[in-house]
Amino acid sequence: MNMLEVTLAILKPHLIKNPVSMEIVQKRILNEGFKIVNSKIYRLTQEDAEKFYAEHKSKFFYNRLVTSMISGPSGIYVLAKENAIKHWRELMGPTKVYKAQFDNPHSIRGELGLSDTRNATHGSDSPESARREIEILFPEFNLDKWYKEEKIHFE
Ligand code: PPS
Repeated sequence: MNMLEVTLAILKPHLIKNPVSMEIVQKRILNEGFKIVNSKIYRLTQEDAEKFYAEHKSKFFYNRLVTSMISGPSGIYVLAKENAIKHWRELMGPTKVYKAQFDNPHSIRGELGLSDTRNATHGSDSPESARREIEILFPEFNLDKWYKEEKIHFE
């Protein structure tokens, strides 16, 4: 039985402003065996960003985070593979860039992150978050239909 899992990955605005950085990350995604199920270059609206980061609404950095995420287009991906959520988070490295640079300097955030806000990439932290985040950023994408078709296809 195929145990494909999906995750929502974002290459943040500061990262995709630099085509070389974007290409480096895209190559890593493919080299690590992720299948790109869906992707787009898209500038989040204020509403998208507020919905997406709703759990952080009370945090001191919330406005800064939302402002940064709507400052330009992002690269948005639905990625699939076995253990996609864990694998993508390992590849990104710790959320805080100073920690990524210290603990895992060759992670994406270790190499390309600039600050706590401009930390290069985002990845879902659970299957429930992945579903919620995909619904916000790919409202036309039917995840259940995709799972059904892929599982039949791979069995
Ligand atoms: S926390 O505090 O543990 O809940 O936050 P964390 O899970 O580490 O990070 C969640 C997202 O918030 C962003 N973040 C920040 N933005 C601006 N300033 C500061 N200080 C800051 N700390 C965390 C961080 O970029 C995370 O965004 P994503 O898109 O999930 O990486």
